[in-house]
Amino acid sequence: MGNTRATISAVGHYAPPDVLTNADLEKMVDTSDEWIRTRTGISERRMLVNGASSDMGARAVEAMLKNRGMTAADIDLIICSTVTPDMFFPSTACLIQEKTGAKNAWGFDLSGACSGFIFGLVTAAQFVETGKCRNAVVVGADKMSSITDYTDRNNCILFGDAAGAVLVEPSPEPGAGIIDSIVRTDGSGGKYLNLKAGGSAMPATRETVDRRLHYLYQDGRAVFKVAVIAMADISAEILERNGLTGADVDWLVPHQANLRIIDATANRMGLDRKKVMINIDRYGNTTAATIPLCLSEWWQCGKLKKGQTIVLASFGAGYTWGSTLIKWTADDAAAS
Ligand code: UT7
Repeated sequence: MGNTRATISAVGHYAPPDVLTNADLEKMVDTSDEWIRTRTGISERRMLVNGASSDMGARAVEAMLKNRGMTAADIDLIICSTVTPDMFFPSTACLIQEKTGAKNAWGFDLSGACSGFIFGLVTAAQFVETGKCRNAVVVGADKMSSITDYTDRNNCILFGDAAGAVLVEPSPEPGAGIIDSIVRTDGSGGKYLNLKAGGSAMPATRETVDRRLHYLYQDGRAVFKVAVIAMADISAEILERNGLTGADVDWLVPHQANLRIIDATANRMGLDRKKVMINIDRYGNTTAATIPLCLSEWWQCGKLKKGQTIVLASFGAGYTWGSTLIKWTADDAAAS
């Protein structure tokens, strides 16, 4: 590997227009707006009524390309992080490649659940830093409504649909861009958050459908206990090993699973809430899309600026978790 450092040079997102509010959910299951807001921080989420993850992913990539002033032909790699692929195969990356007209790109899907975006970013950065790729796209796209059981009040209140995309290129400044990442997995957590049927372990049958095993399963309390510690620890760890403190950080960009987990992470880093990107109230948990969706929204409204130091943090099914330290290099929205 030479001296090339990878960076995020552009962002884009797509959130479908249809909204499912807490009041809507009150009519579907035994819950209340008050319970959902105080236990999770969520007020509403978006639903993709027609289409699939690749449709949202393609739109996010198109928005990102527009922001960068590039065409789809410039892309040489597409990594799609998703737990809701359009189908088992072909990969959603292939479908996005076709839909965007990225005729010079190869690509693949990456299954990292809520850490899928960070895992995809780490992977794309390797291709760029070794010189194998120049313009690598990481898309986080999840149509969570397609695997959510809207009779299960424990889980149906949590999830929404969206996609976010970033472009990973060689950094124009050697000291800036993607500085460091820590990524972890612990498969012993698989039993607490999974989708049991439809894979090779339990192919879909009439019985698996009757038992609702093709929907997401989560033991929320068990996952919460680990998530709240692991996401805070890994965010503190990346600061420590780079000789930084919370005072050096402009933005924490946390996976949006639960406002209480986000607050615990910010507290552990010594960060004020004003320095935390939070949009869980409007989107819920969109799995692989949460982090690029935040980046894109904050960049678009001019709050994420060139030269700022940001920390991405995630925790999700697997278990998977990770953090990434970035010195932001993309031109500001107003200036681009
Ligand atoms: O993104 C991937 C990683 N996932 C996460 O990080 C999610 C982690 N888990 C969580 O965010 C939280 O555990 C939940 C939001 C899922 C649940 O919050 P909680 O504070 O852990 O609630 P709980 O599961 O301990 O349930 C507390 C009570 C229970 O009633 P009892 O047993 O105390 O009588 C539940 O039955 O709240 C009840 N409950 C509800 N009540 C109203 C559960 N869901 C609901 C609901 N509305 N929707």
